Amino acid sequence: MHLLIPAAGVGRRMGSSRNKLLLTLLEQPLFAWTLKAAEASTAIQWIGVIGQPIDFPDFKAILAQLNLQTTIEFIQGGSTRQESVYNGLQALPPEAERVLIHDGARCLVTPGLFDRCAEVLQTCPGLIAAIPVKDTIKIVDRNRLIQETPDRQQLWAAQTPQGFEVKLLKQCHDTGLSQGWAVTDDAALFEKCGLPVHIVEGEETNLKVTTPVDLRVAEFILRERQ
Ligand code: CTP
Ligand code: MG
Repeated sequence: MHLLIPAAGVGRRMGSSRNKLLLTLLEQPLFAWTLKAAEASTAIQWIGVIGQPIDFPDFKAILAQLNLQTTIEFIQGGSTRQESVYNGLQALPPEAERVLIHDGARCLVTPGLFDRCAEVLQTCPGLIAAIPVKDTIKIVDRNRLIQETPDRQQLWAAQTPQGFEVKLLKQCHDTGLSQGWAVTDDAALFEKCGLPVHIVEGEETNLKVTTPVDLRVAEFILRERQ
């Protein structure tokens, strides 16, 4: 299975001066944890790291330390996650029929979740890892007035890995470009094109490190696992 890792962000909400994936988490760069989980997944044979060229020397130094067996390719990212994934899709080798996409910032993912997603992807055209939401979610208007309270039974929080048939996802990205759709995950493009996206039960600890608090929580979870 081929895996694309979007890693080309700047980490604005983290408030750090460089890509948050280079921040240290329990004595290792955050990105090293993501890469180690992918390496430990038996399903993944090829990893495309989508990054900004300015970060490539640091990414290469991390990889040199880890000494991974998986084939790694570097792909230049874009100015949005959507653009970065688009570039990743163009860089996949021709034999890649299905692809997993996993955010570099979700460094607590387990090898088992990659493996489960890879397995389910053999039987459906699109999937995402997701978990039922714990909070009650409100839809709020510009004046901060609640418009609606959707039924929590139907709400799931999207995670990555997400997985798709490459040909279909490429078509969805092309449609998205021509229609000017701006989305924050790939499933949204699939949905907008009327294609089915299945849910794979994700992991409560599979958080996306976004703010400084997330970094501390991630550190705690990793320490508990050791
Ligand atoms: N990402 C990317 N290309 C971009 C923007 C984001 O590949 N142009 C990646 C990030 O590196 C991250 C994942 O997409 O692994 C999820 O994005 P997010 O958590 O939003 O990271 P950042 O965009 O870096 O953070 P922020 O939005 O706070 O700036
Ligand atoms: Mg972002």
